[in-house]
Amino acid sequence: MSEPKKLFIKTYGCQMNVYDSERMAEAMGGAGYVETDSPGDADMILLNTCHIREKAAEKVYSELGRFKGLKADNPDLKIGVAGCVAQAEGEEIMRRSGLVDMVVGPQSYHRLPAMEARARGGEKVLDTDFPEDDKFAALKSRPKARRGPTAFLTVQEGCDKFCAFCVVPYTRGVEASRPAARVLEETRDLVARGVREITLLGQNVNAYHGEGPDGADWSLARLIWELDSVDGLERIRFTTSHPNDMGDDLIAAHGECAKLMPYLHLPVQSGSDRILKRMNRKHTAESYVRLIERIRAARPDILISGDFIVGFPEETEADFEATMDLIREVGYGQAFSFKYSPRPGTPAAERALVDPDVASERLSRLQALITRQQRDIQDAMVGRELGVLFEKPGRMPGQMVGKSDYLHAVHVADCPATAGELRRVQITESGPNSLAGELV
Ligand code: SAH
Ligand code: SF4
Ligand code: F3S
Repeated sequence: MSEPKKLFIKTYGCQMNVYDSERMAEAMGGAGYVETDSPGDADMILLNTCHIREKAAEKVYSELGRFKGLKADNPDLKIGVAGCVAQAEGEEIMRRSGLVDMVVGPQSYHRLPAMEARARGGEKVLDTDFPEDDKFAALKSRPKARRGPTAFLTVQEGCDKFCAFCVVPYTRGVEASRPAARVLEETRDLVARGVREITLLGQNVNAYHGEGPDGADWSLARLIWELDSVDGLERIRFTTSHPNDMGDDLIAAHGECAKLMPYLHLPVQSGSDRILKRMNRKHTAESYVRLIERIRAARPDILISGDFIVGFPEETEADFEATMDLIREVGYGQAFSFKYSPRPGTPAAERALVDPDVASERLSRLQALITRQQRDIQDAMVGRELGVLFEKPGRMPGQMVGKSDYLHAVHVADCPATAGELRRVQITESGPNSLAGELV
């Protein structure tokens, strides 16, 4: 038997790209490839890219530059670009870098094995279609190998919201949900392989409306309740949600479904109604704050996480202060914040930019506030008893690391628990980025 060929994948961007990379590795597994973590050994290199901000997109070209020597050493090496830059820039990638053999968009990667075969024949292959055939149906089921205790699972993809700054509707296409039966099947398969916690993914995951086995449209809450009854699955999370799709049944599930973790990523982007309107977010700061109140009424201890864009065109100091006020009112346990980056083809890219120094200064003020809030919320865990799902050994001998219900990293010294075990932990210390505790 010939030696298996080696595939090196580098993943940028969001969790959905992490999931897609796993699926692409499995698809190439069917074509005789095993994964390697060293590009120097690889027969095929795949960059799974992100187009969300300019910096993210530019990384692809600098990374490709680094592979020049590898291709010179190994003329059989095939290089592919996948993901959202592939979708957005297509042939431009081949033009800018002669090293690239394959360009494959996020909706056509089930065709990757066939593309690789053509590339081996010397062709340059591009596929950025939004094909009729569902890629998930075309992909073979996951191999039965054991895996870690947490997994991502895409249930919804694409977006119809068209926020004025965002490329996602163009790179991922229109909003679509996977049938519930497929999600259940994939969940059972993951659980059989050792997974205890699943994070359901979608660009607008709470807009999920997949076909149920009963023929009716299932909401995300309905799907979560079904997953709740899967034996061996201990925790359910989902991300990312849009405030306008937060249904009553989903809010209620946060109070009633024991496996649904008390953590919600609910981006608001800005606290200024003027800016929210210009962003085409279709909600106000007030409606968002009222929504958080309703969610907290259902689940008082829920940890709220968010995303913020600072320096959106026309953002004034008063608009920015409104964002700071909203952050003070909500209290975030986690947040991601970005300086606005104009993206080609989006409506906001045509508008005048805020002075970059002003935007940077606002971003650091906002991040300082968020860091304080995160730290206060994390420190308040000390003395409490939390569920921790252990994931792997820590850096110290005998130590184990896991995640709390609220997604904080938790270290336990001299820990008899093994990876995949969910245990109660008494929290004793709060450090810069993690908690420490003892098994109860
Ligand atoms: N679907 C999610 C987020 C998708 S992108 C949602 O609706 O919230 C993740 C985050 O990147 C966004 O929440 C936003 O804060 C940020 N982002 C998106 N486009 C951006 C841009 N052009 N410049 C800066 N940040 C951006
Ligand atoms: Fe982008 Fe999210 Fe807005 Fe959709 S809802 S356009 S993914 S920021
Ligand atoms: Fe980036 Fe595409 Fe995800 S642009 S954030 S990889 S959906």
